[in-house]
Amino acid sequence: MARGRAGRALAAGLAGVTAYDLLQRRHAILRNFPIIGHLRYLLELFGPELRQYIVTSNDEERPFNRDQRRWIYASAKAQTNTFGFGTDNEMESVSAMLAIRHAPFPAPPPADGEPGGFPDYAIPAGKVLGAARGRRHTFRPASLVNVSGMSFGALSGPAVHALNEGCRLVGCLQSTGEGGLAPQHCQGGELVFQIGTGYFGCRDAQGRFSLERLRETIAGHPVRAIEIKLSQGAKPGLGGLLPAAKVTPEIAAIRGVEAGRDCVSPPGHSAFSSVDELLDVVEAIADGTGLPVGIKSAVGEQAFWDELAETMARDRGRGVDYVLVDGGEGGTGAAPLTFTDHVALPFKLGFARVYAAFARAGIAEDVVFAGSGKLGFPDQALCALALGADMVNVGREAMMAIGCIQAQRCHTGRCPTGVATQNAWLTGGLDPQLKAVRHATYVRALRGELLALARTCGVAHPALVDPGRIEIVGERFTSAPLHEVLGYEPGWAVPPPARRAELEALMSARTGFRPPGPELGPLPGDGTGGDGAVPDAPARQPRVPPVAG
Ligand SMILES: Cc1cc2nc3c(=O)[nH]c(=O)nc-3n(C[C@H](O)[C@H](O)[C@H](O)COP(=O)(O)O)c2cc1C
Ligand code: SF4
Repeated sequence: MARGRAGRALAAGLAGVTAYDLLQRRHAILRNFPIIGHLRYLLELFGPELRQYIVTSNDEERPFNRDQRRWIYASAKAQTNTFGFGTDNEMESVSAMLAIRHAPFPAPPPADGEPGGFPDYAIPAGKVLGAARGRRHTFRPASLVNVSGMSFGALSGPAVHALNEGCRLVGCLQSTGEGGLAPQHCQGGELVFQIGTGYFGCRDAQGRFSLERLRETIAGHPVRAIEIKLSQGAKPGLGGLLPAAKVTPEIAAIRGVEAGRDCVSPPGHSAFSSVDELLDVVEAIADGTGLPVGIKSAVGEQAFWDELAETMARDRGRGVDYVLVDGGEGGTGAAPLTFTDHVALPFKLGFARVYAAFARAGIAEDVVFAGSGKLGFPDQALCALALGADMVNVGREAMMAIGCIQAQRCHTGRCPTGVATQNAWLTGGLDPQLKAVRHATYVRALRGELLALARTCGVAHPALVDPGRIEIVGERFTSAPLHEVLGYEPGWAVPPPARRAELEALMSARTGFRPPGPELGPLPGDGTGGDGAVPDAPARQPRVPPVAG
């Protein structure tokens, strides 16, 4: 009898929790997996204590370790993203630790509402995109942190929606990825249209590149630049395949392919097969659209980069407006292990080689450099900027901001958080509006800490941090400045006086600051500040003022 009552009470309790899980909007994982989804939060809560005795340390997991994930989750939710008690990293027997040489007299922080100040921590890109070649729609990207190309197809519709809306909230650009321009990309965030080898959204009936189709696709959309993808760090030279089951009528229409059939991106481009031909295509697109045109590539064979830089230096009439280097550590929806692990150079090495090619040709100032490959953390982003990048892209870090838990099932179509799947039940758990705010809050936090690091180095803009400020510490207390480790010559990646003055002026001018709009206010149901209540304010950097000691 007593047992029966207890059973009924338990069943009622479980039913109550199930109903709550299904109705709440904050956590996709609970909506998709009522009851059992709580295990994840329990493990997260008690994980640190458990891990002290068993399992792994905070720095062991890959691709993103626990500290990195915790920093993103806390930042995205506007929770305390500082860590207590000091570093748990091994500092004395490491193979390559990045140490930033701070200045004795840090630059003062801007006041609230000033450029680079709370709440938006806006940082414009280090250079003007398209200026060197006088493109009709030249512009300086308002944010030096932008969202990396991840197609609708690899990502779910609600995930693409959340990222684009988040971009609108914080003024970043979102690359469409190679899967074309979807309605989910149209939430007001500005776009970079990516052209992959499948030419989705810009192909003719035979699958060849069509400038006409490109113009039709981007007409009426806030596309600010075009990105030709040569390769991706996780799978260079492989192309891709979206299996038939994932080629829904919606995706087929966006890509310009047949529904229900495998959708193949070939390994290479059919529109060009040499540096000369590539530059012709770049110029045709720039002429036909007026937009700056860049390339995205992983770094392998060096001769390509040398030839590209030398050709551009010789023939100033033709050239790419930006070069986005994707590190071999970059992510993908699906790729063979050998490719993710062994093809293409890691970001720092690859970027340094590409930068060197342009610097030696004397045209590094004429090209906007961008990078991707685990750069969505303040220290890594600063390192990229010190190496000469003018912008950084974030891919998986942005996915984590909108709920990805690094389950690494993106290739199965069964992503438990609804981020990387087309399964309607799983995507139903992802609330795009709420996650857009999380994404925006993460970007603000990243920019805020990046600026705090720059000021620690005595400058107002992170692009003013030169590579001598970063030291690589090795085993047995060896150490060397980053520029020495990567073979930079004196003066490389150091902005010339005119650009330095321009960046300083940008960071001090009161004009141009975009005050947060009403969309940055409370969102009913965003539990960051209690349901229906005002969410926590975007984190100041550091959010919790350090106490003595
Ligand atoms: C699910 C997924 C889909 C991706 N799709 C594309 C794509 O369509 N085009 C592209 O250039 N890169 C694609 N990438 C690579 C990312 O844009 C980015 O270059 C890479 O993940 C490195 O950045 P990260 O370390 O910040 O993730 C994809 C990555 C992921 C995880
Ligand atoms: S939760 Fe897992 S499957 Fe989903 S996007 Fe993240 S890593 Fe991929």
